[in-house]
Amino acid sequence: MRLIYITTVAFISTLLISCGGKNEQITTGDASTNSEQQTYTDADLDRDSHTLSNYREVKVEHSHLNLEVDFDEEKLKGSVVHSIQNMSGVKEVVFDTKNLEIKNVMVDGAKASYRMGSADELLGVPLIVEIQPESKSVEIEYETTEGAEALDWVSPELTAGKGHPYLFTQGQSIFTRTWIPIMDTPGLRITYSADIKVPSHLLAVMSADNPTERNELGEYHFEMTQPVPCYLMALAVGNLEFRAIDSRTGVYSEPEMIDDCAYEFADMGKMVTQAEELYGAYQWGRYDIIVLPPSFPFGGMENPKLTFATPTIIAGDRSLVALVAHELAHSWSGNLVTNSTWNDFWLNEGFTVYFERRIMEGIYGKDYADMLAILGYQDLRRSLDELPSDEQRLKLALKRRHPDVGMTDIAYEKGCFFLKMLEEAVGRAKFDTFLNQYFEEHKFETITTEQFVDYLNDHLLDSAEKKINVAEWIYEPGIPANCPVVVSANFNNVEEQLNAFYAQNDVNSVIPDQWSTHEWLHFLRNLRENTTPEQLELIDSRFNLTETGNSEIACCWFEKSIYTGYMNGIDNKLEEFLVTVGRRKFLTPLYRALKATGRSDRALEIYGKARSNYHHVSRHTIDELLDYSES
Ligand code: BES
Ligand code: ZN
Repeated sequence: MRLIYITTVAFISTLLISCGGKNEQITTGDASTNSEQQTYTDADLDRDSHTLSNYREVKVEHSHLNLEVDFDEEKLKGSVVHSIQNMSGVKEVVFDTKNLEIKNVMVDGAKASYRMGSADELLGVPLIVEIQPESKSVEIEYETTEGAEALDWVSPELTAGKGHPYLFTQGQSIFTRTWIPIMDTPGLRITYSADIKVPSHLLAVMSADNPTERNELGEYHFEMTQPVPCYLMALAVGNLEFRAIDSRTGVYSEPEMIDDCAYEFADMGKMVTQAEELYGAYQWGRYDIIVLPPSFPFGGMENPKLTFATPTIIAGDRSLVALVAHELAHSWSGNLVTNSTWNDFWLNEGFTVYFERRIMEGIYGKDYADMLAILGYQDLRRSLDELPSDEQRLKLALKRRHPDVGMTDIAYEKGCFFLKMLEEAVGRAKFDTFLNQYFEEHKFETITTEQFVDYLNDHLLDSAEKKINVAEWIYEPGIPANCPVVVSANFNNVEEQLNAFYAQNDVNSVIPDQWSTHEWLHFLRNLRENTTPEQLELIDSRFNLTETGNSEIACCWFEKSIYTGYMNGIDNKLEEFLVTVGRRKFLTPLYRALKATGRSDRALEIYGKARSNYHHVSRHTIDELLDYSES
């Protein structure tokens, strides 16, 4: 099969008037390529274009880190030793680096010849080391720099306890090379170990077997004995406490939050069991979560054995725990079976959203999962209005662009609905058997979209089912006509009450006292465009939404309030929210709403106070959105 993608990017800017979605993006510094025509041929389909390493010629099997965490200088200092196998007998091994200071390189214990290749703005600088066919190890001594995009050095004021600094890493998609010189591609799996030295009053944890208590020396040893792609290497250091949920699950957080976290995640153990019932044994031993400071730019990150999570899911009523199911599901889709390249990102995320909703359905019932699916579908529809057509395909063509451009509802929701469509076409029992086999046969491997399609044809679809429009779903923009339709009686009720609200201009008789978070979200998202500030004030005076402690409701409420012009009511709380929370999914729609309604000055005023609290990932996005420059 020969596939040619022709992609032309048209920039469409639309007003976003609804809440939610994952369509907040990083664009590459290299804007000129955006209008370029890209042609991909067979050779490009499974070669990762986002690494400068020669991972196809030389294999790294194990990497050992030896690092000291220096909070004063905000640097990691030490070395990495890569155990290599020179499969093709080449003369050089090439690693990815970005903004790293390389101090020395040894091959098999002897000083080696090495040089830095030419710098690429997007991908970094290749580190090229001379090796022999029989060379076995490459040791690189290095330090990180201020430009390390993977590292968030959180100052004490921005932590829950306000007394200690905090550090966490974020590798996905191509940031690992900013804290470790490494072959930074999802197409290669390695085992790793680490010796990490931290100030003795802090605890270090990794995506590996973890300590539960501090030791006096501040020295911790870690082992990850199962091969993982290096975007899953992760480290967090802070004033951490551990609390077990049950025998194989638990939570780490600052002591100030540990009770709340343990309450919120009480169902973690059940989720693991439910996931196993669906798609086979959990392969990673323990499953723990660490709740990070609010500057964490994502909702969650599926670092193996230890999910990294935003504190904004601690709602107090367990209503946002679908995120836990999501990150847990990645223990199969993503961590066990990994996208070969970032163009195949939907294989990680689409499968995971599908799996997440199956876990949620198993534990909390079909009505609950259906509400999640409808909210997801709303996200997808809105993203389609905004995204250029080449970003509406499941299989992406991101050469010369940052992989995080692909972090949209296409990968997540279109990917999920594609799988749901397959489930409905072949029946749930057959589909579940197929997925079990898929995970079992591909575990600890990487896979491309094309390999998946072959596997689908060989193991799921009978000759009649082969007529299903799989290629349209994967290679065409938009949503195919056979997209499953989800109906929710709960949401139908909400819509009736919404109509009654407009008809009677009254809240007391129409909105019940106990809507779930998801019903509230559905209500808020579907407020009409001509809603008046007075009507929002009416809702607020009865339900106090401006004061809500639920971050999803708060974000949606603030966004609606901005577009409606109910600014007086929310302005202080909006500022407080934007200054404390660094989760990009919330920041983007709120700053965008301020800008779109002629309040750029207010947006910049708040951003001026908030920016230093944000992770570089969020800064990058908001700088661009607000045309912000530091001077
Ligand atoms: N793996 C992603 C986060 C990610 C993707 C980081 C791409 C960097 C690049 C994680 O599993 C995820 O999807 N998180 C979501 C939450 C989820 C419930 C949809 C998020 O952070 O919003
Ligand atoms: Zn995910």
